Amino acid sequence: MSIFEDITAIQNIIYIVASILFISGIKMLGKEDTAVKGNFLSALAMFIAVLVTFISELENEPFILIGGILVGAIIGSTIALKVRMTSIPEMVALFNGFGGLATFLIAWSQFDSIGDHYFQHLLAIITAYIGGLTFTGSLIAYGKLSEKLKVVKTSIITKIFTTIFYGSILFLIFSILQPFLPEIGFNFFTVLLVITLLGGIGFVLPIGGGDMPVVISLLNSFSGIAAAFAGLLLLNNVLIVAGSLVGASGLILTVIMAKAMNRSINNILFVGYASASKGSSSEEQGEVSPINVADAFLILESASSVLIIPGYGMAVAQAQHVVRELGELLEENGTEVKYGIHPVAGRMPGHMNVLLAEANVPYDVLAEPDDVNPIMDSVDVAVVIGANDVVNPSATEEPGSPIYGMPIIEVHNAKTVFVLKRSMSSGFAGVQNPLFFKQNTRMLFGDAKESIGGLVSEFKD
Ligand code: TAP
Repeated sequence: MSIFEDITAIQNIIYIVASILFISGIKMLGKEDTAVKGNFLSALAMFIAVLVTFISELENEPFILIGGILVGAIIGSTIALKVRMTSIPEMVALFNGFGGLATFLIAWSQFDSIGDHYFQHLLAIITAYIGGLTFTGSLIAYGKLSEKLKVVKTSIITKIFTTIFYGSILFLIFSILQPFLPEIGFNFFTVLLVITLLGGIGFVLPIGGGDMPVVISLLNSFSGIAAAFAGLLLLNNVLIVAGSLVGASGLILTVIMAKAMNRSINNILFVGYASASKGSSSEEQGEVSPINVADAFLILESASSVLIIPGYGMAVAQAQHVVRELGELLEENGTEVKYGIHPVAGRMPGHMNVLLAEANVPYDVLAEPDDVNPIMDSVDVAVVIGANDVVNPSATEEPGSPIYGMPIIEVHNAKTVFVLKRSMSSGFAGVQNPLFFKQNTRMLFGDAKESIGGLVSEFKD
């Protein structure tokens, strides 16, 4: 008996092993101290699954298989090795997109061999649709996250693509029902492929501002769901399991992110944020009060409680290590130090937690907005490090602001606020921040790493 004849049974047993490793790996990702091991286990599971699939298919198309694996491995590892920490969210968006593209191509390649099987017909159509939507939607998300693509929600182009997106939903329904309808004079599947790709653009194009975190996790979930459908189409068990895991965990994350933004998913996808009204926070709002490192040090030295609020700028400046050093120096000086972590600070879920863990900041000093907001008026100094949208009071005070309704860390209620950033420019949502103009706010302009480094030197002198 050749290796290729009895491989199916062995293959399925190894797939079960890989699935168990996937599930254990994901479970381990839920806790900081086991996360690295969990990541390794999941990668090992993927390696095993690819290897077994490779061996089982070797008989058919060895050169295509080897070529595909080599090209994918080289591109994937080059991108992952080269990527800067601040660009990981864009990389995740791209990788979601590639997952979608792979399933889109699978559905396309399988469609002609389906024949009269309605269930197969349904699977191919749904796989192509979700995969295609994920692919082009993720490319747009990549453009938005990397700030290469600035989109005006009300522009005519956005409206055209949004209409195509709604049209694609109708065409999907038509395609599903096609076997029961009279024959038509064109190849509906080709039309579905094209309209799906264009629809993906229209799906993500109008979504903006603070809603991007939710969209990224939704696209992540879609890439998993598409893979699970492709698994059903190809009758590949490990693809079904891995796809379902990604799909389900992505959906859970989407719900968590939407809750963190105080938004319903329906609202994000089909309504969007209110457009900024005239006279809203996009305009300058008076004078700001700058402060220098030496004066900031004097205030910090006499503070008995300090709350540090990191944001995307801390990631850009790679300031997490000096931030931890400053925290330790403050504690040695008798100050109580806590970190206020907003769920969407930075550009990816858990971004701040990852950076602070890398710098060995203990987990028990990290607090959520709900823990710190009620006691904010007892905080002597709130030190905002490269955060902007997540501390913008317009979100709670200004109906009509594009970020109105998003929960924030209410640093403006602290006794004194230091805002560390390089200029007066806005954050991700593109709106001005009235916090900068408040009486209790002092702007410490400059690169966050340099400013914090300066404070650390003052403490050490
Ligand atoms: P942002 O609102 O994006 O503000 C970051 C601030 O950091 C900027 O105003 C920038 O001002 C400053 N900055 C940049 N480089 C700096 C440096 N080297 N030193 C000091 N400051 C620097 O950040 P945030 O408050 O963390 O909010 C996150 C935003 O991203 C939210 O709108 C959120 O919805 C969105 N978003 C989040 C995610 C996830 S999942 N976390 C995903 C996609 C989008 P200067 O240029 O003046 O320095």
